Amino acid sequence: MAALELSSVRKTYTSGDAEIVALDHATLEVGDDEILALVGPSGSGKTTLLSISGGLLTPSEGTVVVGGQDISTYSAKQLTAFRRDSVGFVFQAVNLVPFLTARENLMIVNDFGSSRSHKDAKARAEKLLDELGLSHRVDNLPGQMSGGERQRVAIGRALMNEPALVLIDEPTSALDTKLGEQVMELIVSEVKSRDTAAVIVTHDQRMTRYADRTVTITDGVLAA
Ligand SMILES: Nc1ncnc2c1ncn2[C@@H]1O[C@H](COP(=O)(O)OP(=O)(O)OP(=O)(O)O)[C@@H](O)[C@H]1O
Ligand SMILES: [Mg+2]
Repeated sequence: MAALELSSVRKTYTSGDAEIVALDHATLEVGDDEILALVGPSGSGKTTLLSISGGLLTPSEGTVVVGGQDISTYSAKQLTAFRRDSVGFVFQAVNLVPFLTARENLMIVNDFGSSRSHKDAKARAEKLLDELGLSHRVDNLPGQMSGGERQRVAIGRALMNEPALVLIDEPTSALDTKLGEQVMELIVSEVKSRDTAAVIVTHDQRMTRYADRTVTITDGVLAA
């Protein structure tokens, strides 16, 4: 089964009198253990595509099926549960909770509803932070970390609940090459060790070699 199927998705924004077409008849299928890289210039619709795939935005036209569920028909309440249970997000602007430590920023995912005990959640949070090269930062607040460190905490948080679909906006832009590669390797191993799919937006051509497939987007139009 496909992890994600976009069919003729169109998304327009209104800005004053103008209508901006951010996505135009986007059709895309991502397999259930596939890593897809999405590459395109600024303003081409990458974040819009991720937001629609993760149920943060609804399409103006077309259907969005995630793990067999047609989320384009979902109510706001259903979308909230869907996001909590099925998707891991890493946003372009990292949004950690400022008054929680790195470990707590991962463990908070558990508090939104998970079968994992507090003890298991703590162990998983520490394992992920260790794999992300942050074992010395578990007790630090976001304000005490660098931009790249904060971004890695956000990646750990997205992987915390073993989501079926991981959506990552620019994972490596704030990281140097070596760290960027380590982070990509972790994402690959997390995704490949279970039925997880990932869509990763990147400007960095070097990162596309970690993906199974690369799709480009220009002015809201996808091309293989
Ligand atoms: N809330 C909004 N209201 C109006 N226009 C928007 C809104 N969000 C995005 N847009 C416009 O839609 C288009 C696609 O935006 P999007 O954020 O998806 O691009 P992007 O590919 O992620 O760009 P970047 O690489 O700079 O992050 C752009 O023209 C942008 O200006
Ligand atoms: Mg963007």
